[in-house]
Amino acid sequence: MSLLEAPLVVASNRGPVTFDRDDLGGLDARRGAGGLVTALIGAMQRVDGLWVAAASSDTDRELAAGLDGGRVDMERFGADYRVRLLDIPPERYDAYYNRISNGILWFVHHYLWDTVRQPIFDDEVDEAWNEYVAVNRRFAEALAEEADRSPTPPAFLVQDYHLTLVPRFLRELRPDAFIAHFSHTAIAGLTYMRILPGRVREGILRGMLGADVLGFHSQMWAENFLMSARSLPGVRADLARSRLSVEGRQVAVRIHPISIDAVGLRQEAAGPEVTALRRELNRWRGDTRLILRVDRLELTKNIVRGFQAYALFLRTHPEWHRRVRFLALLSPSRMDVPDYLTYGEECVAEAQRVNTEFGDEEWQPVEVRVRDDYLGALAAYGISDVLLVNPIYDGMNLVAMEGPLLNRRAGVLVLSRNAGAYWRLGKHALAVNPFDLRETADALYRALEMPREERIRRARGLSRLVLSNPAERWVRTQLEDLERARIRRRTPSPEPAARA
Ligand code: ADP
Ligand code: G6P
Repeated sequence: MSLLEAPLVVASNRGPVTFDRDDLGGLDARRGAGGLVTALIGAMQRVDGLWVAAASSDTDRELAAGLDGGRVDMERFGADYRVRLLDIPPERYDAYYNRISNGILWFVHHYLWDTVRQPIFDDEVDEAWNEYVAVNRRFAEALAEEADRSPTPPAFLVQDYHLTLVPRFLRELRPDAFIAHFSHTAIAGLTYMRILPGRVREGILRGMLGADVLGFHSQMWAENFLMSARSLPGVRADLARSRLSVEGRQVAVRIHPISIDAVGLRQEAAGPEVTALRRELNRWRGDTRLILRVDRLELTKNIVRGFQAYALFLRTHPEWHRRVRFLALLSPSRMDVPDYLTYGEECVAEAQRVNTEFGDEEWQPVEVRVRDDYLGALAAYGISDVLLVNPIYDGMNLVAMEGPLLNRRAGVLVLSRNAGAYWRLGKHALAVNPFDLRETADALYRALEMPREERIRRARGLSRLVLSNPAERWVRTQLEDLERARIRRRTPSPEPAARA
């Protein structure tokens, strides 16, 4: 049977929803945070698969310990797939999620360290790494169990930096498994990757190389991975075919930009709740133009520099005072990682500085709303004039797609060249170097002053591009890759010539 029809098993740290009990003891499902969940919910919508994820609430843990091995049918929540929750002891989870995944791997891939002082690797990091290994092993064992339960071999789609060791462990347990791993983050270049202790760096690279196919959102990240992987002893690279060979196996490196569920999103945005929120926001903004940003409260999103650039714009263009407002919708994220707490305070303080310098009783130049407010974000996308997406580095950035898709005012997208989304959307956006305040301030000015015809042309170009890449394609193309890998396995080709 072709893998295009194979049972699908997805694994990610964060599941599509977090479960809670309502007052009557029934199950409530809260949508998970971040782009991976948004994109995968869209991509999995019409797919009958199983999604394995870590339990994250008390109710999740209760379900994980239940009779059906943590399996929950999502039909009653309007989805065709099932979820299987894995219960991981809290201390182990803390080391794997906060210390290693978010405290080290996320930092390295987004170039977040101030390397004069950070990072320092010591015995504590070593111990936390052992927990990361243990959690990855637990996921691999769960996936191997799914292979045993399945009447035909499944296609495994393993997600992101939390689960880099799963492909290798699963390969050890089930050598014939068909495994794809996808990175939703940026990927660090060879020299920056060398900051990591050898055991960690080799561990994650060799762990990922356990897959048949490795997917990335953009060419920049795929190339960075190839450069690091081919520097490992015993790994040979065929750069022309974007393939690596390791331990007698072939690993394809592929670029599959993920997208959003445009139809679902537009339906949600047309609903009564979002309509009411849009009305409220319109009243709040009055007759000013609206600059919007929508982000997790996240170090990579470059929120502070965004406010600094706005201040520079206001300083340079007093004629815009009182005619513009900046709304920042920030959803709290990873608050157990100390840098995120500090950064949240810095963002709010910077916004206050702008308000103190330029504002008065009648005009508050910036408003920051720190809460998880997905529907509020959908409402705001509709009415903004400028959407600022200026991450330091970003694997993809779905906000840059959601905004143009829902916008009703021919809004302009100001987009960082270091976001994966730039690769596809860049030609219709105003591009900025996220570190360059002057360039960002000028882009805000240009966006606000842009003639209507140009805004319409760019806005149409953006939504056309978003619509031309339906969310389901992302799953399909990976299954096609795996199917090619299956055929290759049956007819082994000669090893690629070493070009490293
Ligand atoms: P990341 O994956 O790093 O969080 P993305 O831009 O790819 O970045 O995805 C962010 C997702 O989270 C989007 O679907 C966006 O709508 C959602 N989101 C961002 N900010 C908020 C917020 N303040 N409230 C609710 N949802 C948000
Ligand atoms: C990014 C990562 C995802 C993660 C999301 C939210 O999109 O690539 O793997 O789920 O951020 O972060 P969180 O730590 O809340 O899961």
